[in-house]
Amino acid sequence: MTRKKLIAGNWKMNGSLAANAALLQAVADGLQQQQAAACDVAVAVPAAYLAQVQQLLAGTAIALGAQDVSEHSSGAFTGEISAAMLQEFGVCYALVGHSERRQYHGETDAVVAAKAQAALAAGMTPVVCIGETLAEREAGQTEAVVQRQLGAVLDTVGKDDVLRLVVAYEPVWAIGTGKTATPEQAQAVHAALRAQLVAAHPEAAGVRLLYGGSMNAANAASLLAQPDIDGGLIGGAALKAADFLQIIAAAAGDL
Ligand code: PGA
Repeated sequence: MTRKKLIAGNWKMNGSLAANAALLQAVADGLQQQQAAACDVAVAVPAAYLAQVQQLLAGTAIALGAQDVSEHSSGAFTGEISAAMLQEFGVCYALVGHSERRQYHGETDAVVAAKAQAALAAGMTPVVCIGETLAEREAGQTEAVVQRQLGAVLDTVGKDDVLRLVVAYEPVWAIGTGKTATPEQAQAVHAALRAQLVAAHPEAAGVRLLYGGSMNAANAASLLAQPDIDGGLIGGAALKAADFLQIIAAAAGDL
């Protein structure tokens, strides 16, 4: 089963009008010189910049992503942004359940599943983020934790919608710390997640499983060479055009 790799940048709460324009200009220029079509590329940007980035991405091969989406469709939810609103700005991907949302905003597995459902209903691809903390890994609970997190989504979305998900395994201890999971550690978790997906839908061998957590220009190729690692969710390294382009090149070369 060949899965086209996906490299998605997660800008988190970074950027400015000027910095966004410079970064995307450099990435788009670099992509024109690469085998860009060999790999899908996206950037998940702060909501305040969706309109700007939608314009900057016009005519490029880079897809627009959001970092979160409300599980509600409209109404008295101050500060929230609905899937329909995101769709008006051409958003293709919505991160749901990033560990920073789970940790700092109290998002539960049930909320994350409802957000995935809301994104799907609006025609977007949810990027379902899951991952264990260091304490959970050290207690030998990694597989149980990530399978519980993914299971909540699989139990909520319709059976055929399983095929429309992207899943991002991001060990919490590897995010922004410079500590990456080894390719073997990441592959072991991805294989367990693949088995869970295939149990939910027989064609889920085609679902993309991204790795995230301190992926960078130096370690991307060895992670992306693993059989069940189908791309990356990139934080810090997505803010530097040269690094992001190198990660995309590593993905494009390993199809
Ligand atoms: P990082 O972040 O690449 O800076 O570790 C990844 C993420 O949180 O999505």
